[in-house]
Amino acid sequence: MKPSVVLYKSLPEDLRSRLDEHFAVTEINGLTPETISQHADALQQAEGLLGSGGKIDAAFLAKTPKLRAASSVSVGVDNFDIPALNERGVILMHTPTVLTETVADTMMALVLSSARRVVEVAERVKDGKWQSNIGADWFGIDVHHKKMGILGMGRIGLALAQRAHLGFSMPILYNARKHHEEAEQRFDAKYCDLDTLLKESDFLCISLPLTDETHHLIGREQLAKMKPSAVLINAGRGPVVDEEALIAALQEGTIHAAGLDVFEKEPLPENSPLLKLPNVVALPHIGSATHETRYGMARDAVDNLIAALSGKVEKNCVNPQLLK
Ligand code: GLV
Repeated sequence: MKPSVVLYKSLPEDLRSRLDEHFAVTEINGLTPETISQHADALQQAEGLLGSGGKIDAAFLAKTPKLRAASSVSVGVDNFDIPALNERGVILMHTPTVLTETVADTMMALVLSSARRVVEVAERVKDGKWQSNIGADWFGIDVHHKKMGILGMGRIGLALAQRAHLGFSMPILYNARKHHEEAEQRFDAKYCDLDTLLKESDFLCISLPLTDETHHLIGREQLAKMKPSAVLINAGRGPVVDEEALIAALQEGTIHAAGLDVFEKEPLPENSPLLKLPNVVALPHIGSATHETRYGMARDAVDNLIAALSGKVEKNCVNPQLLK
């Protein structure tokens, strides 16, 4: 008998067929309190889960007594209570490699659009405000040769360093849990402490996962250390930055601008003060959102679940200690 799996995100047809070949699949429309209670029986039987979003904690695990593996269509796994999964012996899989270059592209897009005010001035053109030669009130700031500060030197940080250093002649500073030899050798990245990163970066690019240690890592005190001309870019997870402190810093001119793909609450509430600020580029969490990359993530998530439920995991496992 095929193992039972609950799928809570729709998949391209060919990937759905591949999943059906291996498993008895029940598809549900997201993991919400409503869908969880509507599909209690399927969850009760499920040995595997595949999807993204939703909160998977001890209370959820109590409803999935047979669960052996969860496969997330994401790199970030902050919606999973990993100690609770470990206690139950549930393998957690994710898609860390396939989206690296695409997310780095998004970060560079935020750097360029924040510095050159791309969104703001394009809107002026659409509004018919380009009536004569533009003056200084349309000007932005340079990106090339400015100092790029990267907070979190993982795969995405490295891909960003490559773009910034080789493409835009930017010197790279970074702070991370440990030195990154490849970033230092290939892109001349210089390791520094967080304070130095805050003080010296012209573009502070945050590419950190959300954990207890990174929650509100950047708050009022840290923003105050940045240059008034600096631009903050966040494409990791919203709560790494204290949004209220960021809004105050942008309103008060503590920093120059921000380019944000992630927020404390998503979707960003319509009444967020961020949406009133001309010096903010706000994107709807599109980091990995290209057709090619989202397909690749879904494909990897399917392969990850097949590997996990057949005891053949070689990569993409968040809690590999369970495999021993
Ligand atoms: C997107 O934010 C992801 O974690 O993949």
